[in-house]
Amino acid sequence: MAIEYREWREGDDLTLLEIWGGPETYQAGQFRAALAVSSAGTDGAPWRRTIVAEDVIDGIGIPVAAGVVYEASLHPERLWTYIEVARDHRRAGIGATLLTMLRREAGQAPSGVAKLRAKVQPGTPGAAFAGAFGLAPIQRSRLVVVEPGALKLPVFPAKDDGGGLANDENAGSDVVMDLATGSIELTDVVGRYYTSIHGWDSPGVLSVGQVQKLFLDDLTGAHGAIVLRAEPESAFGSGVAPSKKGRIRAFAVSYAEAAQDPAADASVRGAKATDVFVGHEPGLEANDAAAAVRDLLSLLAYQHPVMLELDDSMTALRAAVEPLLESGKARQAGAETLIVSD
Ligand SMILES: CC(C)(COP(=O)(O)OP(=O)(O)OC[C@H]1O[C@@H](n2cnc3c(N)ncnc32)[C@H](O)[C@@H]1OP(=O)(O)O)[C@@H](O)C(=O)NCCC(=O)NCCS
Repeated sequence: MAIEYREWREGDDLTLLEIWGGPETYQAGQFRAALAVSSAGTDGAPWRRTIVAEDVIDGIGIPVAAGVVYEASLHPERLWTYIEVARDHRRAGIGATLLTMLRREAGQAPSGVAKLRAKVQPGTPGAAFAGAFGLAPIQRSRLVVVEPGALKLPVFPAKDDGGGLANDENAGSDVVMDLATGSIELTDVVGRYYTSIHGWDSPGVLSVGQVQKLFLDDLTGAHGAIVLRAEPESAFGSGVAPSKKGRIRAFAVSYAEAAQDPAADASVRGAKATDVFVGHEPGLEANDAAAAVRDLLSLLAYQHPVMLELDDSMTALRAAVEPLLESGKARQAGAETLIVSD
């Protein structure tokens, strides 16, 4: 086997796709798209270096493996990397050589950032390879489907309609509310929540526009949001109807089915659950945050299953969902994803 290494060229993706066949993991499916022509990072596209390994037979080189390293404006403290080697060329050191070459390239990244990060699935060759080269897990992420009726609905205090009679029909109407996905109040809490659960890999400074683009605008598939608010309080005491809404305790954004990743494996796509992003005001005390998230989730999953991404760093969501996983009222869809880094 005579292996030669060169820069990625236009068209390599098609040749490699033919040689590699279907992606062996969900993460591989996602990251193959990152294999693209190198970029100096000066034309608006992120800095990227992509290397191809060719097996040279009778003077003709056939691409068999590739690796990429690139900068990301979101989570800028590490560079993403991805390496793939054709199955019949594995365990011959090609992956290791590509990683060494990519590390050398990373040393030239304009940002000065050289730490690498990758996504792998536990128990796969990718995870073993990462482990062998000192890339250790910094986060674990699971997709979880919460079955209908898994959580008890919250009981909201009946509202006093002013005539001294409690009105059960409207109970909760001033704490559970729909909110437009374009709402500034929603965008603000979503951005601060996202930052708060990424202490392990800072997203950098998120602008309102970035938060919108990532989670809330039409292209994300976001089609609705509900929030759980604190009880409104009147500045004039309990006898006077409050004029202001209570602050947001928890939020949920739901996404249209079409926005789900088509590369997701069958157990994920077959779930027919609504994809939701659930979070809370990061300033809440831990128990309060967990209670708020649990209440909102119980409303979301009252009649229909919902699917959410559960990272180990999402403490409040874990408190609500992990007991459901243990009791079988929620299930994991697909395999775990590990984010590994050096
Ligand atoms: C991960 C991958 C790139 C490794 O490529 P490779 O060319 O086979 O890797 P190497 O031969 O250089 O292996 C280097 C070391 O990694 C470890 N390793 C690689 N594959 C392994 C496996 N299947 N099981 C256990 N250890 C493994 C071993 O320590 C190996 O050294 P050794 O062969 O002397 O024991 C390849 O399996 C692949 O393409 N997987 C699918 C894509 C993927 O998951 N990429 C990882 C994201 S970065």
